[in-house]
Amino acid sequence: ARSDALPRDLEGLHVAVSAGGTREPLDPVRFLGNRSSGRQGYALARVAAQRGARVTLVSAHTADLVAPAGVELVGAGSAEELRVAMHEVAKTADVLVMAAAVADFRPVSLTGHKIKKTDRDPEPVALTRNADILAELVEHRRPGQVVVGFAAETGDEGTSVLDYGRAKLKRKGCDLLVVNAVGDGGAFEGEDNAGWLLSADGTEVRIAHGSKAQLGATLWDAVRVLVEP
Ligand code: CTP
Ligand code: CA
Repeated sequence: ARSDALPRDLEGLHVAVSAGGTREPLDPVRFLGNRSSGRQGYALARVAAQRGARVTLVSAHTADLVAPAGVELVGAGSAEELRVAMHEVAKTADVLVMAAAVADFRPVSLTGHKIKKTDRDPEPVALTRNADILAELVEHRRPGQVVVGFAAETGDEGTSVLDYGRAKLKRKGCDLLVVNAVGDGGAFEGEDNAGWLLSADGTEVRIAHGSKAQLGATLWDAVRVLVEP
């Protein structure tokens, strides 16, 4: 979409979007990571900037993406760095979007030196839980601040993608949750996404298969309604 074709309906809003996949260091040269490309978060940031918002993009590792024009870029490597950056920007932002793939666990100990190979099998890597940044942002939310989460889900015999999404929305307590159906031609690494946009008020909007920018347009429309006085 050409930016001059979009409404400037987010003017006056400061939005913060996290994107990409965190990397949890194991030693100076190794990490635990994930397959997030960062494309969805970057598309959200680009569309918000085109619609007139002030945008802070808190970016973990991506597939070599370039920050969209007019967006303030804050780099974050690990989940803990992303957590600190999001809490900082949350002091001023009107809208917080957690599109990043945050590692649930990190190695317990970070050795200062490269782990060396020996002629024996290695010790198992002990992991510990990371903080749930989205839940923390909801907990510390300022009046009127809108908090948005993402969920990439797969269904199974007993529970559908949508059911998992509904449960996650309740558990996280955010205002909006974008639920992506994994393996449905969407989510990780691809150009496209499909799924649902679930609201805390019970509204459920099906997001047809489309580009990550189209999903962004749908999300910002919903956010716009929530921040209206
Ligand atoms: N999230 C977060 N901090 C974490 C883990 C996840 O802020 N430590 C955010 C993600 O950015 C996303 C939302 O929480 O917006 C849902 O992430 P997801 O991984 O789907 O949910 P989890 O609660 O981690 O549950 P699970 O991985 O077991 O499905
Ligand atoms: Ca997780």
